[in-house]
Amino acid sequence: MTLPRPVSTAALRAALRLGGAVQTLPPRPAAVVRRASALRLTADERTAEARIDALRAALAGSADTVEVVDYGAGTRGGERPPARAVADVYRRAATGPAWGRFLFGLARALRPARVLELGTNLGVGSAHLAAALALNEAEPPERGGVAGRLVTLEGAPALAARAERALADLGHADRARVVVGPFADTLADVARAERWDLVFIDGHHEAAAALDYVRTLAPHLAPGALVVLDDVEPGRPVRRAWRALRAGRVAALRGAAAFYAGRYGLLFAAPPAGL
Ligand SMILES: C[S@@+](CC[C@H](N)C(=O)[O-])C[C@H]1O[C@@H](n2cnc3c(N)ncnc32)[C@H](O)[C@@H]1O
Repeated sequence: MTLPRPVSTAALRAALRLGGAVQTLPPRPAAVVRRASALRLTADERTAEARIDALRAALAGSADTVEVVDYGAGTRGGERPPARAVADVYRRAATGPAWGRFLFGLARALRPARVLELGTNLGVGSAHLAAALALNEAEPPERGGVAGRLVTLEGAPALAARAERALADLGHADRARVVVGPFADTLADVARAERWDLVFIDGHHEAAAALDYVRTLAPHLAPGALVVLDDVEPGRPVRRAWRALRAGRVAALRGAAAFYAGRYGLLFAAPPAGL
């Protein structure tokens, strides 16, 4: 078996240092960002991460192929989607180990009850989020223990099926649900079913689409919810959506605290009254 390499957090630390001033955030968002940016793990957290590293090693070394519907390029109806090497999909599309640890840290610090991910892919980001939920659930209520649940949306059925198996193998079958279909068909119904505490938007990386998804989600966010928007570095298409969101162009998120975390744009909705 290939042993996973230790997570290199140097690039992420540099990105976070450049990313934004934590001290400009209100107290709770600042605490959440500080906790996630520390990238430090307890023994239990290291054990959970090691299991995800093993999933990564299996994907990176896989000889399988998987049929991938490409929504960005627009797969035409009736066409059989192209088969791609799983190892290649993993390398190109899955969240890397350091950013996975950052996401995990956000979910550990925020203690979300309801988490939504747009873009499951092979389930790697989902695995980090679900691992945080499992550890949150193991905490006593006085330390913020909460039985959180993850819903993750994926348009490519074969990717969704692989992700579902991977999440079940990691013990998250009852904690994580994969919903299959284009976001245009699935998001509205999924969004209105809950009050979301943490949303990770990591699919369909175009500005108009990202803004549209945030608009759909915004009325269904819990007070103090965190929206994480992937791929907002300067020069990337989603950067325009991030700028619009920071400028308050989505009414329900006007006044949200914004933090540029190097690759992710973090938006904290207004907190519950009194916090
Ligand atoms: C960058 S990958 C997600 C990576 C994953 N979140 C992780 O952390 O490892 C984006 C995924 O979104 C899916 N996707 C993109 N646009 C979509 C759309 N409009 N509807 C449904 N799925 C879509 C793609 O099939 C792809 O698997």
